[in-house]
Amino acid sequence: MSRLLERLERLYALGDRVGYTPAEDQAHALVRRWMEEAGLTVEVDDAGNLVGRVPGEGREVWTGSHLDTVPAGGRFDGALGVVAGLEAVERLGVPGLAAVAFRDEERGCAGSRARVASGPLPDAYLELHIEQGPRLERAGVPLAVVTGIVGYSRQTVTVRGRAGHAGTTPMDDRDDALCAAAERILAIRDAAGAIPEAVATVGTLSVEPGGVNVIPGAVSFTVDARAPDRARLDELLGAIGLETGVGVEPVAMDAGVVAATRAAIESCGAPVLELPSGAGHDAGILAAAGVPAGMLFVRSLNGGISHSPDEWSDPEDCELAVDVLADALRRLAS
Ligand code: HGY
Ligand code: MN
Ligand code: MN
Repeated sequence: MSRLLERLERLYALGDRVGYTPAEDQAHALVRRWMEEAGLTVEVDDAGNLVGRVPGEGREVWTGSHLDTVPAGGRFDGALGVVAGLEAVERLGVPGLAAVAFRDEERGCAGSRARVASGPLPDAYLELHIEQGPRLERAGVPLAVVTGIVGYSRQTVTVRGRAGHAGTTPMDDRDDALCAAAERILAIRDAAGAIPEAVATVGTLSVEPGGVNVIPGAVSFTVDARAPDRARLDELLGAIGLETGVGVEPVAMDAGVVAATRAAIESCGAPVLELPSGAGHDAGILAAAGVPAGMLFVRSLNGGISHSPDEWSDPEDCELAVDVLADALRRLAS
């Protein structure tokens, strides 16, 4: 097993790593040790982001991702970008190159947001990430250059009814908050389905008072709404009764970073495919802050499943991704 896969397994063995919890701290401590073993100068910024830099004067070119996970997530989401970035930076050893791990990406990119708001920004950023979708597997292609990242908004909806006795309240005399919420959730699904390339997901829901024999009096649920541009995102948010004009802006990847990544894929003899990202990433936060940013996707297998223990990418594809990442970083650093 390659060091890359061994390190991914070491991180996976730490279990779920919600942002800013001891488990994420453990992952950062492990990667920090690997950075120090690689001879990098390690900085931990005020937000707890980890920056392992090759000492010396040079263009500030960063590569990395996040080490936190969703509950019951996979091995590759985030961790691959950090571990592969470290492999590439160590292999190149060019002054100014840095491998980074941003904190708490999954709940809204707190770490990278804090960094762009307070810390010095690099000259360029390139993030390797598993695709988390089926397109590369279907196309039979190992890698893709990311052209842009969707915009998204996550809001909470509360539906109110009237709590009551489950046995003595006639069906025609109820104001059942959960039935009303269910109708609202199906309407959200239909609204997203009617807008090209828009998606919406209700991922969490809570019922109050929450008794087996109590008619629900109030239900709160979260909506994760996404679209490739602000117009369609606001069309979706408006259609489902949520606040428009808010959330993370859709963002295009930097033409220079895209070109370097394309050239690296070609020079490694792999076919070049360009894809938009339906997932949010730290690269989107850096791009929105004006950092020339780009992404390299590596093929997801198992139908592209992600945010699941079944998330998988072929080790050969991952090794090819490190080669391409290193070549692209070399181009960006020169
Ligand atoms: O939810 C996302 O798009 C990413 O996996 N954080
Ligand atoms: Mn991710
Ligand atoms: Mn994720």
